Amino acid sequence: MNLTYQGILSDVRRQNYVEVPLPITKERLDEAAQYFLDFLTLPQQVKDTFRVFVNKDDPRTAAGYVSKKRAEGESDDKEYFNYRKISELLLQNPLRKNRGNQKVENFFNSAKNIFGEASEVLEQVISTLDQYHPGIHAKIFSQNAEKLLCLRFVKYNPVGKGEFLAKAHYDSGSCALALAESAPGLRAGKNGQSLKEIVRSGNTGIFMPAFTFAEDICSEEFTATWHDVVQKSEDLLSETVARWALILFADTNPERNSSYDDTHTAKTEGGQHES
Ligand SMILES: [Fe+2]
Repeated sequence: MNLTYQGILSDVRRQNYVEVPLPITKERLDEAAQYFLDFLTLPQQVKDTFRVFVNKDDPRTAAGYVSKKRAEGESDDKEYFNYRKISELLLQNPLRKNRGNQKVENFFNSAKNIFGEASEVLEQVISTLDQYHPGIHAKIFSQNAEKLLCLRFVKYNPVGKGEFLAKAHYDSGSCALALAESAPGLRAGKNGQSLKEIVRSGNTGIFMPAFTFAEDICSEEFTATWHDVVQKSEDLLSETVARWALILFADTNPERNSSYDDTHTAKTEGGQHES
């Protein structure tokens, strides 16, 4: 990977994200996503047994299956699975009960592999930044990495064409590496005015500083990436799936209190909130 500190910094200044070459093939990412969609076809009561949190009942620390519905007051209609290194330990009971179930085993095996490889890619980016901002590598990779790194598989339910699948936001936590998605539609920038659709130049991941990153590295130059997802076409993946995406998230302190308003209100240059 040929990423330099100056290259990362200039990409963040210009577009607020960085394209990072991925050693994981598109086929394997697609396969992992398909195993996730297969997992989601399990009966709801089975999926619900895979709900677990690193810190009991703290939704910010989900380490398994999550379902969110607009009808229940959530901002997006989606199901996701947060795969953390600690997930298999926390989920040992449902894993034992579902031994031999291919939908469960295929998904966990591929999640584990992609998680490991994607973590290495993110670690290279963070190591490069650590040369100029010492400490960030240790904050993510040395202390509780099994809890702080999270590979999220997300499935969005269909909405109308041109509608938002994910309303604009900053990711909470420290940073994110978007690995793959089923279709274009991810837009990123510094704020609402500068949102631009991301067009990958090859098999690359998208590194995005998140809500606490500037604070984590003590540099205002790494502003959090404001981003959303728009459903562009009526050509849905299927009747129940508008889109899937795979993202690796890193946090430094999940207990830090960033509210829904904090992460869903764009900041202006001077640090003020836009209305
Ligand atoms: Fe996001």
